[in-house]
Amino acid sequence: MTNIELLEIAKNAREKAYVPYSHFQVGAALLTKSGKVYTGCNVENASYGATNCAERTAIFKAVSEGEQQFDKIAIVSSSGEFTFPCGICRQVIAEFMKDGEIILGNDQGEIKTLQFKEVLPFAFTEADLEINRQKKE
Ligand code: THU
Repeated sequence: MTNIELLEIAKNAREKAYVPYSHFQVGAALLTKSGKVYTGCNVENASYGATNCAERTAIFKAVSEGEQQFDKIAIVSSSGEFTFPCGICRQVIAEFMKDGEIILGNDQGEIKTLQFKEVLPFAFTEADLEINRQKKE
């Protein structure tokens, strides 16, 4: 699976976005280490805070199907510009693919590839909880 192919899949997923409030469509395509792809779109809500981003939709779909090992996530929005994952999505990505890659596409056909660690350095993870637990022992 090439990055271009993964971005194409994310673009198709973007079409499913439910965005009556922002009209900002986002699509994501998540590649598992076993080579499967899970897609996601943003799903908005009249109670704005209940909105789920495309990235989290893809990750939650995959995890709920038994997948926990991921290599890459491609993200495309309707803005035509590179769209970076929001803070909440970064935290969810940190849980499952700290060593993964983020692939962004824009309308000029350009691709930006980043290591997740560049996008969220010093992430809070299970390791922090473990240090705390050991101190309490
Ligand atoms: N959104 C995503 O789906 N992913 C992001 O990383 C940025 C924001 C969605 C949430 C909301 O539906 C709309 O974009 C505007 O914030």
